[in-house]
Amino acid sequence: MTAHDFPSGLAADQAHMDMILVGDSLAMVALGMEDTNQLKLEDMLHHCRAVSRAVKSAFTIGDLPMGSYEVSPEQAVRSAISMIQDGRVESVKLEGGAEMSPTISRITSIGIPVLGHIGLTPQRSHALGGFRVQGKTASSANKLFTDALTLQAAGCYSLVLEAVPAPVAALITSKLRIPTIGIGAGGGCSGQVLVQIDALGNFPEGRFMPKFVRKYGSVFEESKRAIERYRDEVKSGQYPAVEHTYPISKGELEEFEA
Ligand code: KIV
Ligand code: NA
Repeated sequence: MTAHDFPSGLAADQAHMDMILVGDSLAMVALGMEDTNQLKLEDMLHHCRAVSRAVKSAFTIGDLPMGSYEVSPEQAVRSAISMIQDGRVESVKLEGGAEMSPTISRITSIGIPVLGHIGLTPQRSHALGGFRVQGKTASSANKLFTDALTLQAAGCYSLVLEAVPAPVAALITSKLRIPTIGIGAGGGCSGQVLVQIDALGNFPEGRFMPKFVRKYGSVFEESKRAIERYRDEVKSGQYPAVEHTYPISKGELEEFEA
């Protein structure tokens, strides 16, 4: 499950999630940005720190934002160290296939665990022609499989498979030693991940939702109802009530009023 701040980190941890990802999806779901590409490393560090303060038992992972790891393996190592040292997470995730393996080898060689991410890689959406299913042809599925094997060899402890046909994800999972974490990749993966705000239904009616999301709550509607009730009760004088106020002794009050 993802988290992006202190309360969402607490909720995921107390609900016994094994792993909590500070995903760069927070750019869209928590910061109102159009895509994940506007998010900078410093923004990510700020959110990682908040989540890390909340999480007591889950394994924490932070997304390396676009632009923080592609320039060179050295740049990636520096960013990964910041994520651990300043962001206080325990692992980093980065997007990309076989071309990222020298970078992943360098990061894992200094003892920072790396979670890979292939299939639909939102940071590369312009090259993919948008947020689209990946691996729908035999040749693109084959490319995903090769990428998965290469990332495993490079040292990833696990791979996120996003928006991949279920049978392709299941076959790739069966051929790997490391576990896969699916999102929009069917039940044949070793584990699953969802964006917390999506899973909780913390978004207004009518917002676009990917096919793979199941809404486990109606947090947005509940929040709106609560705020409306607050507004109504303030206007009608039902809130604050006596129990929400602080007393003063009769003597002190009389002296004050005099
Ligand atoms: O940013 C994110 O939340 C992610 C997960 C959906 C895998 O990358
Ligand atoms: Na992400």
